[in-house]
Amino acid sequence: MATSEQLKALIKSHFEGDAERFLTTALQLAAHEARKGHSAVAQDIRLIVDKGKQSSAKILPIKPDLEGLVIVVEPNIRLSQLVLPETLINKIKRILREFRQRSKLLKHGLSNRRKILLTGPPGTGKTMTAYVMAAEMKLPLYVVLVDKLVTKYMGETSAKLRQIFDLIQEKQALFLFDEFDAIGAERSRDNDVGEMRRVLNAFLQYIERDDSDSFIVAATNSIDVLDQALFRRFDDILQYAKPTESDIIQLVENRLGTFKAGYAPSTIAKVAEGLSHAEVAQACDDAIKEAILSGKTKVKEEHLLETLRDRKEAYRSFIAQQNASLTPLT
Ligand SMILES: Nc1ncnc2c1ncn2[C@@H]1O[C@H](COP(=O)(O)OP(=O)(O)OP(=O)(O)O)[C@@H](O)[C@H]1O
Ligand SMILES: [Mg+2]
Repeated sequence: MATSEQLKALIKSHFEGDAERFLTTALQLAAHEARKGHSAVAQDIRLIVDKGKQSSAKILPIKPDLEGLVIVVEPNIRLSQLVLPETLINKIKRILREFRQRSKLLKHGLSNRRKILLTGPPGTGKTMTAYVMAAEMKLPLYVVLVDKLVTKYMGETSAKLRQIFDLIQEKQALFLFDEFDAIGAERSRDNDVGEMRRVLNAFLQYIERDDSDSFIVAATNSIDVLDQALFRRFDDILQYAKPTESDIIQLVENRLGTFKAGYAPSTIAKVAEGLSHAEVAQACDDAIKEAILSGKTKVKEEHLLETLRDRKEAYRSFIAQQNASLTPLT
């Protein structure tokens, strides 16, 4: 049997909406059962937890006017699945804490952080963070496809933007302006006239004026092209980077799950150095697939190193090709 402390912690975390603590307690419970020799119960609990963590996002319908421009999902990813430096995790936790206790802040005339800018290289967890925040806040996630806004709806972007901000007022949700640089970048170009400029200015004004209960998250990987004027509009800025050694090890452990065997962490970290979180995750998936197809239940270290090297090689040749295409012809 689980200890009464564990049961109390489980119930408490459920009612406090603390999903991370709920999961940790459930896993502690599994470990406790395993120690007592109840390995079947322990395995059952772990399976339930894994299934709960992985259940995929549910797609919801959207207004016909915004079809193709905004997609709505109900994500189910937890904070514990994000592998980031402690400083970033703490910033995310602070955002969640302020959200959960926003009425307390409001009584003192303060509002919770709810306009957030995420910046950093590709594949480091920006989009995933928005999914995690929506899941932890139990809010639906509205993903605004910014590149569509500036290409497909050229000429009617301002009208579309207004509709989006009307929706932000109307529905409490987390609105993610993903690949946000599609608007941001245009403003700093030399031919800084025309519709894009108006769109960006309108966007900035809408963000500034917004006093809804919704969350606005903008994600970009090209911070340098973004206008300084943008920064003032956000309550918090989260900067992402490629994973550190310990991040790599944790990512590998999380991703391999029950397929994990014993590895030399320093070798793994050395081989994976320079890859993004997304690439490390893909290499782990490749190794798992290989293990499954050859009837194995564990991923061997040599196979994991091989898939990591493959990813690195693919990345290197991509960069080399890009550099070659930039070399001027003589
Ligand atoms: N910090 C992370 N922790 C755990 N998994 C991660 C992390 N970052 C990326 N991943 C894995 O890689 C996938 C892609 O990451 P994500 O889409 O969040 O990257 P991104 O920063 O938004 O990249 P881009 O700038 O290209 O949009 C995620 O779905 C997840 O599987
Ligand atoms: Mg992204």
